[in-house]
Amino acid sequence: MTQPLNIGMIGYGFMGRAHTNGYKRVNDFFDVPYRPVLKAACGRDAEKVKAFADNWGYESIEVDWRKLIARDDIDAVDICTPNNLHKEIAIACAEAGKIILCEKPLAMNAAEGEEMCQAVEKAGVDNIVWYNYRRVPAVTLAKNIIASGNLGRIFHYRANFLQDWTIDDNLPQGGAALWRLDAAAAGSGVTGDLLAHCIDTALWLNGSIENVTAMTETFVKERMHNLTGKVQKVSIDDACTFMCRFENGSLGLFESTRYARGHKALYTFEINGEHASIKWDLHDLHRLEYFDHRLEGDMRGWRSIHVSDGDHPYMGNWWVPGLQIGYEHSFVHQVKDFLESLGTDQPAGPTFRDALETQRVCDAVLASAKSLQWTNV
Ligand SMILES: NC(=O)c1ccc[n+]([C@@H]2O[C@H](COP(=O)([O-])OP(=O)(O)OC[C@H]3O[C@@H](n4cnc5c(N)ncnc54)[C@H](O)[C@@H]3O)[C@@H](O)[C@H]2O)c1
Repeated sequence: MTQPLNIGMIGYGFMGRAHTNGYKRVNDFFDVPYRPVLKAACGRDAEKVKAFADNWGYESIEVDWRKLIARDDIDAVDICTPNNLHKEIAIACAEAGKIILCEKPLAMNAAEGEEMCQAVEKAGVDNIVWYNYRRVPAVTLAKNIIASGNLGRIFHYRANFLQDWTIDDNLPQGGAALWRLDAAAAGSGVTGDLLAHCIDTALWLNGSIENVTAMTETFVKERMHNLTGKVQKVSIDDACTFMCRFENGSLGLFESTRYARGHKALYTFEINGEHASIKWDLHDLHRLEYFDHRLEGDMRGWRSIHVSDGDHPYMGNWWVPGLQIGYEHSFVHQVKDFLESLGTDQPAGPTFRDALETQRVCDAVLASAKSLQWTNV
């Protein structure tokens, strides 16, 4: 029997829409024990949140997130607000006994993240953080291949996340849509926004990171602030590059920037092992590139696996073999795995505690960039 699970969504921007699509689609394609019910959407502007609720099928609205959390008819709260609100909302949810789905990065820094972990663990509420790239089928396949030992000893992990949307120095900072440029709302720049994804995937695929050395740059030093109307210092990192050492002895190299002209969301990773290598590219997200040195010499070469067959992760529940799916399906998969895990002792992950590890790496990266020293995680 499928049980209803009443969802309260806080924030109705990019992620509010991506997650809602996941809630709406999951039962059409997957046999899971719960059926998400779009109970209430919350935002500060009643007219705008009503338009969102009507369009996406939410039954009601709230303009104060505290009221949403206080409602008895809400089972699970989805936090899709800017980063500076995650902690306060998540702790209030935990105290109210709500299931929590929180957007990434978990918090503004690891100290906040630790408080959030303690709150959910004390309350014993199910929790997950939306590092959704884990659930792109090709990335899940990479995880399965690595976990089987197929690559052998791992030597290198390389990841990039490149964009180009903040190059214009007339772009303001702060407020709706531009909160990512305002350190008070975002915590950091590309480190928490983009590298956090690369770090979560890396920790999942290749294990813990021991130490890092990093450099960051803020190319545009001052921007007009939308909330104050004044030209103010820019305190986020526009670009960040770091090297690291993983606990398994492999070396890592990570780069992220919003100043790579021509790139919109180029998230790539490559892993080089003793027997084989794999690489993945978000712009071609249904493919996994694989090279196996164990083949006879004349058969060796990179192979491009089209991750669309029925026995590939998640794919048996979609169309017919050979037909690919996209970005939005990673959210459907996260909802599916989370619903299956509810109330069990096998959390779907990444839990708050898992996401705190990513936060610790981000903190070490930012500290190293400041001190110009190798920094332990
Ligand atoms: N998993 C991913 O790939 C991914 C992608 C984008 C964003 N994110 C994360 O999702 C979160 C939201 O990002 P977004 O791109 O959806 O931002 P957005 O600007 O599109 O939406 C933010 C929403 O929060 C609402 N909001 C702001 N303050 C509020 C308050 N006090 N009470 C209620 N609502 C409030 C805004 O009205 C807006 O609807 C961030 O933490 C971001 O890092 C994750």
